[in-house]
Amino acid sequence: MDNDPTPRHFLSLLDLSTEELTRLLHRAVELKRTLHAGERHEPLNGRTLAMVFEKSSTRTRVSFETGMTQLGGHALFLSSRDTQLGRGEPIEDSARVLSRMVDCVMIRTFAHDTVERFAAHSRVPVINGLTDLLHPCQLLADMQTYLEHRGDIAGRTVAWIGDGNNMCHSYINAARRFGFRLHIACPEGYDPDPAILEPAADHCRILRDPREAAAGADLVVTDVWASMGQEEEQQKREHAFAGYQVDDTVMAAADGDALFMHCLPAHRGEEVSASVIDGPHSVVWDEAENRLHAQKALLEMLIVGW
Ligand code: CP
Ligand code: NVA
Repeated sequence: MDNDPTPRHFLSLLDLSTEELTRLLHRAVELKRTLHAGERHEPLNGRTLAMVFEKSSTRTRVSFETGMTQLGGHALFLSSRDTQLGRGEPIEDSARVLSRMVDCVMIRTFAHDTVERFAAHSRVPVINGLTDLLHPCQLLADMQTYLEHRGDIAGRTVAWIGDGNNMCHSYINAARRFGFRLHIACPEGYDPDPAILEPAADHCRILRDPREAAAGADLVVTDVWASMGQEEEQQKREHAFAGYQVDDTVMAAADGDALFMHCLPAHRGEEVSASVIDGPHSVVWDEAENRLHAQKALLEMLIVGW
């Protein structure tokens, strides 16, 4: 049982250095290759990952659970609906208890402060499986996907079209760590958090016109207009984001070889047209698959080390 009093956590991309992130992506590519070759690799035999979900998930749950199985370990699905967390047991106490039994904890929740408080009281590594502020695991998959399709992203231009949300924030952090330019096109009132943006000012530009942001871009990315927890703002957001759909005219402004990514789930006809997400620039299915490989590399690094 891992009893490290100061475990490494992965709450933000900024928790890892550029060198560590690069190594992790190459390890993910390697784990994908060996999995597809049918080779067994079970370094997490006897290890358990607790997965705490306070929001819905398809990809995050399935990729972490399957990843633990493939690495020889076990994953526990814990919903706040049927654990004591949902009945008000303090997050600090839950962290103390869970981390005396399991080897790693993944949490998907609302306030980012919740994962930070959990991590501060955990004896084992804690992974951010999405908060209102950040979604770093998705960026591991996105960066792996770019690497596999186009090579190094350093020096390239990425266009983020849409909400200045948790995914946008993680792209801002990625721009710093991976050294790309990020053009963010969002409507006024939906800008990213200045606390995330300001330290990345050298890498990022805020624009209002999606076609201008996409001009010459090597990668175009978007996400839903209303994130989990914002369902009641759907109509208001549909108005605010009208004109921000990634459609063929946006992709035509990008580089001819540009890739299109979306963390999914997607709403065709809202943030992206069917012609783009189902079209030749789109790599969204590779991106979704890479959640598995990138997080296996992360679990291996955090639980047993390289
Ligand atoms: N992209 C992503 O995190 O998907 P889920 O919400 O299905 O986990
Ligand atoms: N921004 C979205 C991402 C879903 C994976 C949300 O938080 O709902």
